[in-house]
Amino acid sequence: MAIHGNLAVNRDRLWDSLEEMAKIGATAKGGCNRQTLTDLDGQGRRLFQQWCEAAGMTVSTDSMGDMFARREGADPALDPVAVGSHLDTQPTGGKYDGVLGVLAALELVRTLNDLEIQTEHPIEIVNWTNEEGARFAPAMLASGVFAGVYEEAWAKALTDRDGLVFGEELRRIGFEGPLPVGHRSFHAFFELHIEQGPILETEGIDIGIVTHAQGLCWLDVVVKGQDSHAGTTPMPRRQDAMVAAARMISAIEDIAQERAPDAVGTVGYVSAAPGSRNVIPGQADFTVDLRHPKQDALDAMRGAFEQRVSEIAAANGVVAEIAPVEAHEPVAFDEACLARLRSAAEALGLSHRDMISGAGHDACHIASVAPTAMIFCPCVDGLSHNEAEAITPDWAAAGANVLLRAAVETAGIVDR
Ligand code: GLV
Ligand code: MN
Ligand code: MN
Repeated sequence: MAIHGNLAVNRDRLWDSLEEMAKIGATAKGGCNRQTLTDLDGQGRRLFQQWCEAAGMTVSTDSMGDMFARREGADPALDPVAVGSHLDTQPTGGKYDGVLGVLAALELVRTLNDLEIQTEHPIEIVNWTNEEGARFAPAMLASGVFAGVYEEAWAKALTDRDGLVFGEELRRIGFEGPLPVGHRSFHAFFELHIEQGPILETEGIDIGIVTHAQGLCWLDVVVKGQDSHAGTTPMPRRQDAMVAAARMISAIEDIAQERAPDAVGTVGYVSAAPGSRNVIPGQADFTVDLRHPKQDALDAMRGAFEQRVSEIAAANGVVAEIAPVEAHEPVAFDEACLARLRSAAEALGLSHRDMISGAGHDACHIASVAPTAMIFCPCVDGLSHNEAEAITPDWAAAGANVLLRAAVETAGIVDR
């Protein structure tokens, strides 16, 4: 059966659900702190589950906490069309990063229910565990286990900065499910996400068709010098780990600036020990996030950083260790899925352009095990990973409508 021209989600219901979910972990500055496997994450998951069950879906959970809400298809033996994203947030996150993709998928199913549309393939909404990687690095952890990139036992043994263990936290919030991770085929996977950058809003374009995601390299650096007295240690005799780390951090900025505009480099976390005003720090730890759309350029950035770290360490009388945390090669999304998204945007009269994702997404892992593509909608001032992250109800609905149409076309409608 052909898709009716005005197949569209309920914009206000989608918006209300986004607002309702945002109350869980709401911050004073209007954002969200619902970090993975916290009590608040548990609350958000339970609300999502309630909503899915009220919409007639069956929710099951795998042993990494990934949630799959299934709307049965006319042929239950067919692989489901999966749609979703993540409900966890950064510590100072916004209300839409990830959440839009999950709740737009829920709105998609609610709309099919309203219109009594039955699809050939089942539809499954997925909430992937620990996309953000803020509490437990690496990011996109459970989708990575699902895709066979990481071992489940290794992932479950990861600890946060307080020494709490991933597997124990997952059990504590009640979301270690019985299903084995992976071993689940998707006919296709679509993820709607806010752009998290300024291109769509600046160009006045409704929809981003995400053809690729850039490569990423995360490192942890530990710099070791010697604690000593701040007042009595002459400058030439110091082994100041913090000063050496500061020079290394500045090198990251140089390495990315030299390769701008494609390259980006960030140090988002620094700590110095022992952390006393009148003690020269004997140890400094910092994180590194390097990204580039081309793998050879990303490798060159990492090589340049390693070189600068060894030069700076030698010049400052300290020792530096660099540990790899996460690496993703650039990803190309599925051409047939992308074509579906473009034709959905056109059928809806929405302007669209192809673009590359600067951020990592669960879809990047799923692309290796199922035909996958992503849709972006604009966000105000391109701001994300910030409590002030903002979108409009119309932008959210436009993205959800493209998701709905592409998913339904892929799942097939049963004639009545
Ligand atoms: C995921 O949020 C990323 O850092 O790209
Ligand atoms: Mn996200
Ligand atoms: Mn994010």
